[in-house]
Amino acid sequence: MLNRFSRRTFARLFGSAALAPTALSTFATAASPEATSTAPTERHFPPGFLWGSATASYQVEGAVTEDGRGPSIWDTFSHIPGKVKNNDTGDIADDHYHRYKEDVQLMKALGLKTYRFSVAWPRVFPQGIGTPNPKGLDFYNRLVDELLAAGIQPYCTLYHWDLPQALEDKGGWQSRDTSEAFAAYAGYVAGHLSDRVKYFMTLNEMSSFVGGYSSGRHAPGLKLAPAGVNQVRHHAVLAHGLGVQAIRAHAKPGTKVGLAENANAAVPIIETPEHIAAATKAMREINAGYLTVIMEGRYTDAYLAHAGADAPKFTDADMKAIGTPVDFVGMNIYTPSFIRADDSPAGFARVLSPESYPHMMSPWLHVGPEALYWGPKLAAQIWNIKEIYITENGASSTDVLTPNGNVYDSDRIMYLRNYLTQLHRGVSEGVPVRGYFLWSLMDNFEWADGYAYRFGIHYVDFATQKRTPKMSAHFYREVIARNGLA
Ligand code: NOJ
Repeated sequence: MLNRFSRRTFARLFGSAALAPTALSTFATAASPEATSTAPTERHFPPGFLWGSATASYQVEGAVTEDGRGPSIWDTFSHIPGKVKNNDTGDIADDHYHRYKEDVQLMKALGLKTYRFSVAWPRVFPQGIGTPNPKGLDFYNRLVDELLAAGIQPYCTLYHWDLPQALEDKGGWQSRDTSEAFAAYAGYVAGHLSDRVKYFMTLNEMSSFVGGYSSGRHAPGLKLAPAGVNQVRHHAVLAHGLGVQAIRAHAKPGTKVGLAENANAAVPIIETPEHIAAATKAMREINAGYLTVIMEGRYTDAYLAHAGADAPKFTDADMKAIGTPVDFVGMNIYTPSFIRADDSPAGFARVLSPESYPHMMSPWLHVGPEALYWGPKLAAQIWNIKEIYITENGASSTDVLTPNGNVYDSDRIMYLRNYLTQLHRGVSEGVPVRGYFLWSLMDNFEWADGYAYRFGIHYVDFATQKRTPKMSAHFYREVIARNGLA
């Protein structure tokens, strides 16, 4: 075994390239504990760590009227002038619906072990409920087969914000019927894909799509009063719980069910016992409407007290469904929520960021790599979670395609390297993160920001649909090949 000291000596004598897995295996024989141990080393992740990337249906597919797909709330919303930057829409996006084979080859070239995609509900049920559209489901059958043929494990999200417009016309997430309709749809898809897909996520980033009913920045663009928003939020978590039950009822044995939630990652402002204790308390409370109620099957007292007369209406049966145990938790983590100890009854307070706080191209994307350490660590500790995935992490950048055909996105590499260093710190301590999905495989429709903010590690020329690997794609390929920091 090459221990820490001998690894360094080895690198000094032979250069660090000699520590790449292929070179290393020449020296670390089968008898070496390093070859078989599941413990991460100084710069390596445990063997079998799942390196992935993610996209979502409306953001990449295009083909919005093809093969019987019904309209979604994002089709409607993006076509209202002024709702999306430059009035961009997802009509064509990355044309992934037609180019998925080429895109799977991009994944293969990166060495991806897994890929997280989402199913467009209105492709499978154009009206949201009722008669399914087999041609819609077929696209995902083809995609899954292509992934498996390339040796890439599919992870499937069932709802990434493209609600069938027909359901919105009946109240959308304001109606409890939508939660039931989601469960029926989720069970149907899992029933058909679970012979090949082993991991399903119910809903992606509930707070973001609930925002479509409060800030109006996302589809369907409503600005409800607090009681209405709280009810929408309740229907979202209920849909998750009913969805978990429906997937379990229809999927093949061995299928795992979870969610992809953008839990606020509480980060102690300084790593002292008092601030860490405050961050631990905060992690429960600042996620009370989403992850906490899902993991505990009840709203916290503070959440209900804060909502007062605007609290959501619910039954015991709702709460039981919401708290249905999950097999894993997916966390989308981009930014930190800095917390400090405080004398208030809550025992913690948020540390608001000064104007000078560094961010990526998207103004909201504050850089805080420690979020990838503290977020999963505190979640695992509070709720005794045994299997966590970072279902999204990544960065927007100005990304200029130079005349020599390269994109030197050093800022994205800086971001990724620092976040992965913190992830490695957690995994080394035993935080049960089993995989990481980089957002995103390629530039795509960034919701209300249209195509203005690029998150991909492949540059997409939207006029020609040409994909070009950015420097960050080369960086990520190296990380995957080493199964470690690069
Ligand atoms: C989270 C969302 O799930 C995804 O759709 C979005 O593009 C990224 N964050 C970046 O904003």
